[in-house]
Amino acid sequence: MFSPMLLYALATVVVSSIFISLYRKKEKGAAALPPGPRAVPIFGNWLQVGNDLNHKLLASLAQKYGPVFLLKLGSTNLVVVSNPELATQVLHTQGVEFGSRPRNVVFDIFTGNGQDMVFTVYGDHWRKMRRIMTLPFFTNKVVNNYSGMWESEMDSVVRDLQRNESVKTEGIVIRKRLQLMLYNIMYMMMFDAKFESLEDPKFIEATKFNSERSRLAQSFEYNYGDFIPLLRPFLRSYLNKCKDLQSRRLAFFNNFYIEKRRKIMSGNGEKHRISCAMDAIIDAEMKGEISAANVVYIVENINVAAIETTLWSMEWAIAELVNHPTVQSKIRDEMTRVLGDAPVTESNLHLLPYLQATIKETLRLHTPIPLLVPHMNLEEAKLGRYTIPMESKVVVNAWWLANNPAWWKDADEFRPERFLEEEVGTEAAVAGGKVDFRYLPFGMGRRSCPGIILAMPILGLTVAKLVKNFQMRPPQGLHEIDVSEKGGQFSLHIANHSVVAFSQ
Ligand code: HEM
Repeated sequence: MFSPMLLYALATVVVSSIFISLYRKKEKGAAALPPGPRAVPIFGNWLQVGNDLNHKLLASLAQKYGPVFLLKLGSTNLVVVSNPELATQVLHTQGVEFGSRPRNVVFDIFTGNGQDMVFTVYGDHWRKMRRIMTLPFFTNKVVNNYSGMWESEMDSVVRDLQRNESVKTEGIVIRKRLQLMLYNIMYMMMFDAKFESLEDPKFIEATKFNSERSRLAQSFEYNYGDFIPLLRPFLRSYLNKCKDLQSRRLAFFNNFYIEKRRKIMSGNGEKHRISCAMDAIIDAEMKGEISAANVVYIVENINVAAIETTLWSMEWAIAELVNHPTVQSKIRDEMTRVLGDAPVTESNLHLLPYLQATIKETLRLHTPIPLLVPHMNLEEAKLGRYTIPMESKVVVNAWWLANNPAWWKDADEFRPERFLEEEVGTEAAVAGGKVDFRYLPFGMGRRSCPGIILAMPILGLTVAKLVKNFQMRPPQGLHEIDVSEKGGQFSLHIANHSVVAFSQ
């Protein structure tokens, strides 16, 4: 009746439940763990809290259990931090202790067991990868070099919309065109390469690979095998799917983009001319600082960390602007008042505070990575008056920090004015200065997002150019567009890609 595999799994589950309850008894005598719901053997709290551990569910649990609580999810500990004081400790004061990353069975596959930068443990490898990536991607010089290219990619979106009559009334799923724009921006910066159009077979392939990677990695479907290692044999076909996708995807990056740059670099002889980010990364490889695998995982990281997050934020900003036409008018008025007929450019964005406030408000209300990328403590650590067992997954509920009505006026309203009134001076800072730990869309400290230096101007410029050239409205027959959300393991995007009408 039962397969030998299932019988084996059940038997091992029973035996290990005895061991785990012995272990838990021992734990009880140790220093205080953070509060949390009572856990049962084997499953911990998993059956109570379910699979979808999203920012809203975790915020409601924080109201019950407090600003730091512990969930046992099978064999893993999840520690959830929900107030600014404790967030300061995790990200700043004890940034080293909590500076590592947990991976799970699926992320092990997608990062080659941490050969990348985003999901690698805190230590020398991470430090080296972050240093090597900084110069070609995350400096003011890079912004200056590339902002002209960003602007012309954005102008090309505006021209496409102006040429298309049907977008005026029927509207268009704007995500697709913005996706092409962002791929072009990032692939130009990485490889000095771009895609011809939405129909370009390479663009179709790249987006397919990346969206399938996101679907498989962000799904909650594999939790059972992740939380309960004994059930992992049942995940085999899921993991094989991930492995197969990843090997084809990395081969695509390698064969069509990285190898091309390698050839150009070696053709240049000893004196490498660095023309794009990949040349600088390959240069580090040639000097023996990183391996060929590290090179390809940097490309993998940028494809996910840079393109998708920025695209989600753009979709959120546009959806809110469609539903708030007065915000569009205010941005337009500000541009006319401050810039007159001059075009909006990266260098004059700082003169447009209302535009900046709109971007900040979008990232507050719809934090694209609401729980940040999970952190981990390699050793047992203290947090407040609690002991955090070693190798716990520690998440900071950045969405709740930015949306808790106790700390924000009219927290659930889209109101950019707040950043010019009661929240003037609240910035999305990731280091230095006076950081407001209620507002962390890019995290803070060692593992914070280095891409903020690119993401903020790219978002500001795109929104400015669309608002300057169009009235963005719901398509004919609708009064508002749907802003329901869809979350993943740690992503938050709009559930239904908006159809938006662009009239002049
Ligand atoms: C609106 C756009 C973006 C948002 C909201 C965002 C947000 C974040 C967040 C919350 C983290 C984790 C912080 C933590 O764990 O404490 C992160 C990490 C990271 N982001 Fe971004 N990001 C964005 C765009 C970008 C871009 C454009 C790039 C690159 C070009 C980028 C590259 C990275 C990298 C490499 C990390 C890992 C840092 C590390 O582990 O040391 N991100 N991002």
